[in-house]
Amino acid sequence: MKEFKDKVAVITGAASGIGYALAKRCAQEGMKVILADIDKKYLRRAEKRMNKIGATFIIVVTNVSKVSDIEILAKKTLEEYGAVHLLFNNAGIGNTKYVWNYSLKDWEWQLGVCLWGVIHGVRVFAPIMLKQDTECHIINTASMEGLISGSGPGGGVYGVSKHGVVSLTETLRNDLDLKKESKLKVSVLCPGLVQTRILYGDIHRPEDLQNDPDKSVEDTRGDVYVARFRDVFGETSMMTPQEVADITFQGIKEEKLYIITHKDPLMKRMVKERFDEILKAFEE
Ligand SMILES: NC(=O)c1ccc[n+]([C@@H]2O[C@H](COP(=O)([O-])OP(=O)(O)OC[C@H]3O[C@@H](n4cnc5c(N)ncnc54)[C@H](O)[C@@H]3O)[C@@H](O)[C@H]2O)c1
Repeated sequence: MKEFKDKVAVITGAASGIGYALAKRCAQEGMKVILADIDKKYLRRAEKRMNKIGATFIIVVTNVSKVSDIEILAKKTLEEYGAVHLLFNNAGIGNTKYVWNYSLKDWEWQLGVCLWGVIHGVRVFAPIMLKQDTECHIINTASMEGLISGSGPGGGVYGVSKHGVVSLTETLRNDLDLKKESKLKVSVLCPGLVQTRILYGDIHRPEDLQNDPDKSVEDTRGDVYVARFRDVFGETSMMTPQEVADITFQGIKEEKLYIITHKDPLMKRMVKERFDEILKAFEE
């Protein structure tokens, strides 16, 4: 897609961070925007900011891990604007522990948002976009963690969800290629570290998925994770959400499957080392 004016964008996790930056960029492109998020407080803040820039938008309180919420999101989108041209499956949370310390509730919550949220988005919206038969694009947010394993301490469940998002997007691209005349394109967004509140996502954990406080293990807190990540990658690897949004739009225009935001040589080396090890196993 190269023309965005008057088109419709749906963004999950749009109340803050990368999601809000994408919403702002969509509005600046003259798009009608649907901001979906679970966080009512941050949605109110986003609403004020979008009003200030004169955006055309609606807000839909959405928990992406519930398929019924995504179905309502699609219904409201079509009722309000009649179509959907960009879908950003972006909502996500961080929850950093050593892999053996995650509780079942940790797994359920994280996979519910970061993986099932994207699955629901694709299952509900892709048929609508295909039927529409207009130029459109789905952007699934994974992470550098979806291309490498264990880049930082305690990326266990997160990494599993993000590898899933990469695989889902690759498969979706392959399936769409088989339908040769499809006007639906897909990308997987794989950022490195971005200045957002991702590692403090525990505030969104539903009541029924709370850990028993006596058994809860917090062995790699968010701030410790960031400090260690910076030790490995350095300060310059921290990007602003706005920079990520701008690179994402460029990726959409160029129909890139992988949108890599951080051109960090160290991250590139880690991706290469992972694949080198896999390829080496073919020779052994
Ligand atoms: N910040 C980073 O360093 C980084 C790096 C790579 C990938 N990502 C990915 O980028 C995406 C956006 O995260 P961010 O960094 O902007 O963090 P963020 O915390 O600022 O934004 C995430 C948004 O998702 C919302 N959310 C959480 N649970 C939800 C749910 N169940 N349903 C709907 N919305 C929900 C939150 O309220 C929040 O507004 C995530 O998928 C994240 O994994 C972030």
